Amino acid sequence: MSDKRLVVTDDGSHTLYIPELNETYHSTHGAIQESKHIFMEMGLLYFLEREKIEEASILEIGFGTGLNALLCVLFAKAENKSIHYESLEAFPLSEEETSKLNYAQILEGENSTGIFQQIHASPWNEQSRILPKFELFKHEIKVQDYSAKEKFDICFFDAFAPSKQPEMWEVDVLKKVWNALKIHGVFVTYCAKGQLKRDLKSIGFEVESLPGPPGKMQMVRATKI
Ligand SMILES: C[S@@+](CC[C@H](N)C(=O)[O-])C[C@H]1O[C@@H](n2cnc3c(N)ncnc32)[C@H](O)[C@@H]1O
Repeated sequence: MSDKRLVVTDDGSHTLYIPELNETYHSTHGAIQESKHIFMEMGLLYFLEREKIEEASILEIGFGTGLNALLCVLFAKAENKSIHYESLEAFPLSEEETSKLNYAQILEGENSTGIFQQIHASPWNEQSRILPKFELFKHEIKVQDYSAKEKFDICFFDAFAPSKQPEMWEVDVLKKVWNALKIHGVFVTYCAKGQLKRDLKSIGFEVESLPGPPGKMQMVRATKI
């Protein structure tokens, strides 16, 4: 996946465009806006409020630019929450690519530039501590080859679209996520396709269709019951 182009989305935040897939890493209606809505509000905040607890473990499928990880670190820091964050990525971006992204400049938070650099500088395949209460483990691996050694509270499922990378949305991959979640664990994704909802239900998830971020009617949240 070479020759990526930097694109400014509608909220002023960057995303990357991959010509060979004709796909972007985020919604062009607003990358930060999309990540905040789908993964933070409908995923992490929902879980913490529902459980009335101060800590969560997150498994992300598709580390990409590290935007979701950055939002979680800034949230953990501002709200004094404990987060264990693991993320899978088959094709890590280069330092040259991540250093151009403007997320840290846009997002509020003390030292967000330093935190974003720390997230990217942390080594692959070992645990790093970004904050006293934030652990990060970036796995350089294909999701198809991954098997979870522990169970997570939340899965941020952030693969490229099913039309672009159908293998990421196959039932076998979704079953892997089911196995990696605790009972009552929460799966969130921007995709709201009928096939995905049917597949999640067939695995055993309780599926909700929720309002999506600007530019997207719906998103999906599914709970392991
Ligand atoms: C939509 S982007 C992720 C965006 C990311 N969460 C962010 O905050 O920037 C999808 C990511 O999945 C990665 N990917 C593609 N195939 C994969 C695979 N088989 N296993 C794991 N990751 C994969 C891509 O390289 C890309 O970084």
